[in-house]
Amino acid sequence: GIVLVAPAAGFVGWLYLDSGRSNTGSLSFRNRLKIPPLLDPTTDSDGRKRFRLDLREGSTEFLPGLPTATWGANGTYLGPTLRARRGDRVAVDVTNHLPERTSVHWHGMHLPAEMDGGPHNPIDRNATWQPYWTIAQPAATLWYHPHLHQTTAQHVYRGVAGLFIVDDPATDALPLPKQYGVDDVPLVIQDKKIKDDGTLDTSKMNFGGLTITGLLGDKILVNGTYDPHFEVKTELVRFRLLNGSNARIFHVGFADDREFQLVAADSGLLGAPQPLNRLLLSPGERAEIVVRFAPGDDVVMKSFPPPLKANFAYARLAGGDDEHDLVKFVAAGTLRPSPALPATLAPQPPAPQPTGDPFRLTMGDFTFNGRTMEMQRLDRVVGTGTVERWEIVNSQLIPHNFHVHGSSFHVVDVDGEAPPAHLRGVKDTVYVAPNSTVNLAVSFLPYSDARYPYMFHCHLLAHEDSGMMGQFVTVSPADRSLVQGDRLPLA
Ligand code: C2O
Ligand code: CU
Ligand code: CU
Repeated sequence: GIVLVAPAAGFVGWLYLDSGRSNTGSLSFRNRLKIPPLLDPTTDSDGRKRFRLDLREGSTEFLPGLPTATWGANGTYLGPTLRARRGDRVAVDVTNHLPERTSVHWHGMHLPAEMDGGPHNPIDRNATWQPYWTIAQPAATLWYHPHLHQTTAQHVYRGVAGLFIVDDPATDALPLPKQYGVDDVPLVIQDKKIKDDGTLDTSKMNFGGLTITGLLGDKILVNGTYDPHFEVKTELVRFRLLNGSNARIFHVGFADDREFQLVAADSGLLGAPQPLNRLLLSPGERAEIVVRFAPGDDVVMKSFPPPLKANFAYARLAGGDDEHDLVKFVAAGTLRPSPALPATLAPQPPAPQPTGDPFRLTMGDFTFNGRTMEMQRLDRVVGTGTVERWEIVNSQLIPHNFHVHGSSFHVVDVDGEAPPAHLRGVKDTVYVAPNSTVNLAVSFLPYSDARYPYMFHCHLLAHEDSGMMGQFVTVSPADRSLVQGDRLPLA
């Protein structure tokens, strides 16, 4: 219905409240969970691992007998999983057969901004974009998705997204479940609104004064599968979770409240497994968890109403207080034994020490510090390889989150308190609850380039597209003079 929302830190307006209530109860878990295929690279003449992504329109039958027009990479909806090792030199040929220009951003990847498909690297219709870089970060679950200014929400919603898994020797040596699709299982969780005629509802992709979070769907897809189940064959299963929704916040757990172990955050492994029975994931965040199953188990992974702070009044506008069934796990009568989970995972580097004054970003009415995204404006210049303290203030009664490109961060505190267990790893995206402040120690990369900016933004895609995004460059002292005022010196 239509509701008049009282001033929320200066925001007043008519809002169409569309909670996209869950259809929990009607699910029968009849569809086998799809697993995104691993994409085989070729080795090119420069010795690089070369991947190929073809972005196309297609048709996908999420609901039986009801084809839905979708977009995908190398398929009709979502894309394959790319996989490479630390130290690998990789290249990707991305060809755009979509009806409009797009881009592909490597979310969480540490790479020069020039090789990242942000708003400054559009791929025109029928053109091929060929970024290349060296994988220079620890093992992690990353992802890719379009990122043109003002069409990100549309393009991701239609289905262009996939995982990019980074491996390294230290992680290989750990006795973690690692058979892809068997006991190492990606779960790309998204909500969708599918109209009666089978078309995707793509209204309210932008803020546009009509909605404060963008569209929330009433159907949950996991790896593009509606109403899914997965057959468990091993005692332990590692799930690589991605909240690939435009706006919806998931609070993941199991119907029987079983404990699971968090083993990795956005940017890689934790120092040790963290036992949890709920995990809050806002759009763009990833987590790896390991779950123990007993023979014959039959248990549903769900999204539960989030804890009090996250649930604060307007958090429900991001669908936060709904309950959703995500996927049902059915364990075989006999399970293959899994090695015990190691007590320690990856040695954690000492917490980075920020230098200089904190950089404060106040999230306002779809702005940072009162400004909306401008392609030619620089919002921050940072030194290569430095660590800065970024203070992210959500002054609103609206949920937001915060993501930084081409780097990772530690959460220093949330409202002055030590971060909860699930925020203690290295991350690139973090939930910023209504009326709260999150302090980050952001470690910037060594690449110096004054021409190509990195982005920071809210990953609720309607907010991002409405201008809740800013740009920064990392420059060496020698390149500092290339930046004049707050203009971007694009070649
Ligand atoms: Cu996943 Cu700038 O985004
Ligand atoms: Cu990103
Ligand atoms: Cu936001």
